[in-house]
Amino acid sequence: MDNVVIAGVGKSIPSKVVTNEMLCQIVDTNDECITSRTGIKQRHITTGENTSDIASKAALNALENANIDALDIDLIIVATCTPDMFTPATACIVQKNIGAKNAFAFDLSAACSGFIYGINVAKSMMKQNNIKKSLVIGAETLSKTLDWKDRSTCVLFGDGAGAAVLSLDQNEGIIDVICNSKGAKWENLTIGARDINNPYVDEVSSINHYLQMNGGEIFKFATVTIVKLIKEILKKNNLILDDIDYIVPHQANERIIQFAAKKLDISMDKFYINIHEYGNTSAASIPIAISEIEEKSLLKKGDKIIAVGFGAGLTSGACLIEWTK
Ligand SMILES: CC(C)(COP(=O)(O)OP(=O)(O)OC[C@H]1O[C@@H](n2cnc3c(N)ncnc32)[C@H](O)[C@@H]1OP(=O)(O)O)[C@@H](O)C(=O)NCCC(=O)NCCS
Repeated sequence: MDNVVIAGVGKSIPSKVVTNEMLCQIVDTNDECITSRTGIKQRHITTGENTSDIASKAALNALENANIDALDIDLIIVATCTPDMFTPATACIVQKNIGAKNAFAFDLSAACSGFIYGINVAKSMMKQNNIKKSLVIGAETLSKTLDWKDRSTCVLFGDGAGAAVLSLDQNEGIIDVICNSKGAKWENLTIGARDINNPYVDEVSSINHYLQMNGGEIFKFATVTIVKLIKEILKKNNLILDDIDYIVPHQANERIIQFAAKKLDISMDKFYINIHEYGNTSAASIPIAISEIEEKSLLKKGDKIIAVGFGAGLTSGACLIEWTK
C-alpha cells in the first residue's frame, strides 16, 4: 500500500451569480469584450461566506463522494491565496468545521498552482509517513481582493472551492507531479498583505492590497508553460497525448487554452473547460473541474488525466492521474 489515489472529490460554489451584464453596472465594460477576451460569461461571488466556509463544504462533499468519515482524515492541506486570516491556517478552521479532529492541518500558498502543489506535498508526506488519508482543498474568495473599479482585473475572477480525498492504496492513482516556480517574475501578479508599520520604521510603506496583474506577461508565461509542462509529464512517463482522456487546465482565460491546443495540435475537446461559468477561481479551479468531471461520470476506471496550472509566483505545475474510482 505505498501508492496514493484520489478516493473522492467535491466542490462548493457560492450561489450568487454575477453575470458580465451585471458588471456593466459597476465598471465600463460589456459582455462582448469580456467574452471575446476571456471566454468568461459569469462568476460566483460570496455574499459573506469566507474561504474556510466554502472549503469546509467542499471537503464534506469530497468525504461523502469517497464514503470516508472525517475522523479518518490524518492530514488537511488548504491551498489558498485568500485565507480567512494570517493565522490560524484556514485548514485548521476547516478541521474544526468538519470535525476532523485526528488530522494535522496547514495552508499552502502557491496561488493558482496551489492544488497541484498540495497534491505533491500530500502524496510525499503520505508515502513517507504512512499517512493513510488526507484532504487537499483549493479554496478562494478572490472577490475580497479585487478592485471593483478596475475593469482589467475585476471581470476575471470568481470565488469557489474544490477538494480531493487522497488515500494510500496498492494502485497508482497519482502517477506523477511536477512543480516549478519562477520567483524572478513575482511582481507580475500580486495581492499585498500588511504594511511594515512599527515604531522603528521611518516611512510606512504603502502596499497595494488589491489584486494587481500584468496581464500580458502572465498570458505569455501561461501559454508557454502549459505546453511545456504537458509535453514534459508525458515524456517522463512514456505516454503520448492519445493516452490521455482529459487535460484539466487551470481556468484563467479560454484564449490561453486555445493557444495550448493549437501548439499541441489537439482538439479543444481534449480540455475540460468551465471558465464561462466560474471565471478564474485560482487554486480552486482545477479541483472544481475534476469534481464536475466526476459528477458528470465522464471518467471510468483506468482513464488518465493531466491537470496543469500556473499563476502568481510565478508558480506552475502538472499532475498525471489515473482514475481508480
Ligand atoms: C487580462 C487579459 C484578458 C487582457 O486581455 P488583452 O486583450 O490583452 O487586453 P489588454 O490588457 O491589452 O487591453 C486591451 C484594451 O481592452 C481594454 N479592456 C481591458 N479589460 C476590459 C474590459 N473588461 N472591458 C472593456 N475593455 C477592457 C483595455 O483598457 C485596453 O484598452 P486600450 O487599448 O484602449 O488601452 C489578458 O492579458 C489575460 O488573460 N492575461 C492573463 C491573465 C491571467 O491568466 N491571469 C491569472 C493567472 S493565474
